[in-house]
Amino acid sequence: MTDRIDIAAYERIVILTGAGVSAASGLDTFRGHGGLWKQFDPEACATATALHTDPLRVWRLISFMRRAAKTAKPNPAHQAIAALQDKLTATQSLTVVTQNIDGLHQRAGSPGVIELHGRLSHTRCMNPRCAVMPFEDWDLYETEVPHCERCGAVLRPDVVLFEEMLPPDAYRACDDAVNACDLFLAVGTSCTVHPACDFVFTAKDHGARAILVNLEPPENAADVFDEIHLGPAEELLPALLG
Ligand code: OAD
Repeated sequence: MTDRIDIAAYERIVILTGAGVSAASGLDTFRGHGGLWKQFDPEACATATALHTDPLRVWRLISFMRRAAKTAKPNPAHQAIAALQDKLTATQSLTVVTQNIDGLHQRAGSPGVIELHGRLSHTRCMNPRCAVMPFEDWDLYETEVPHCERCGAVLRPDVVLFEEMLPPDAYRACDDAVNACDLFLAVGTSCTVHPACDFVFTAKDHGARAILVNLEPPENAADVFDEIHLGPAEELLPALLG
């Protein structure tokens, strides 16, 4: 029996999620046995350099992820996070920050989700002077790179690759929320990728309580959490969040 988190004791809650939160929806995590980085070489498929030298390899990874995410459904972990919003009083706030690009928090009903690593569901033009805005696109590009109808430049997925900056607005909103929170809950993340893995330290520096829900203990950040619940998020979160 998992004790509930006493949500009423906190005013400003931040929940940071990673790939583990979507595992029960049938989506691969990145690290560990069978993870995406065992199937695809991240240097060749998920860096800004790769996007410029061999964009088709990037698109093959994104197409693989799109195929899985398009039909995936939110699981009880996403639903428990979305339901928490409705349980808050007028003085409480919840900010959901995700490293995931699958859109499942939004589909579960969480409002205002901060997407640190972009979104699988959109494509944009690589030409910074092109007027075409990012647009919804679930097409798969496995044999040919798509080009912009307006300017002819290569199109790219609207996601953050290694060697790229996070979207500044998303980062700022996240930083503000983490600096101000009194409860920081990380779910389904290996806590290895910057800057998301640093947020728990920032939250702790500002006096927040830090809780982790994950299948395995994190390699680097285990000591910083006040509480660690090991197990599947889709089972633990509904119990922890009541
Ligand atoms: P990882 O694959 O690094 O870590 C996923 C974590 O989820 C692991 O620690 C697993 O133990 C845990 N896990 C697996 N199934 C779970 C379940 N059912 N319930 C709870 N936990 C579970 O994924 P992230 O931490 O999200 O970035 O990785 C962060 C970033 O690294 C990604 O956003 C991506 C990747 O490279 C970019 O591509 C820029």
